[in-house]
Amino acid sequence: MKLNHPPLVDLLQMAYSAEKAAAFAYQGHAGAVKNKDEKAAIHQIEVDEWNHRKEVMKIMNLYSIPVSRYYEFRFHIIGKTISAACYVIGWFMPFYFAGRLESGNVCEYFRMMHFFHELGIREHDHILYEMGIKEKEHEVYFLDKIKNSRALPFFEKIFSWGGRKSFNDVDLDAKYPVDASEAYCKK
Ligand SMILES: [Fe+2]
Ligand SMILES: [Fe+2]
Repeated sequence: MKLNHPPLVDLLQMAYSAEKAAAFAYQGHAGAVKNKDEKAAIHQIEVDEWNHRKEVMKIMNLYSIPVSRYYEFRFHIIGKTISAACYVIGWFMPFYFAGRLESGNVCEYFRMMHFFHELGIREHDHILYEMGIKEKEHEVYFLDKIKNSRALPFFEKIFSWGGRKSFNDVDLDAKYPVDASEAYCKK
């Protein structure tokens, strides 16, 4: 079956490649931090991103959606660049920008869910929910690391993400169940 929904196809292709960029970036991030627990946690997040990429591929295969060579190239460069940057920009910024990025990724999976629902397809709800919630857990992990940093208020002002500002409306302490989760990311 072909998906007659260009924005959804584009979002799937982009997410597939962006997951690779994220995984590359976390390789550098995990390599650059000295603390053993941080290294292990960031490595686990890298593994999560590779799993997301696999899950997105499964969905793409179902609808014969090709991998975008443009996104693959673009996100390869982005991921490798961020990975290298992690070694030179200090401790705070990799955590900050990882959290900010994860914050935006949460809604990508709920937006996919919205698009699928427009086509009457609900069979991917569970996996999309799981991936969206996982990105939220990533966001919370990174925020937790920097929440007491003196640099945070300044970065929050400039880059619009931090303790008070998020790019999604998911609250892990009061999670919706899968069948109500369509309500997320409507704005
Ligand atoms: Fe991911
Ligand atoms: Fe993530």
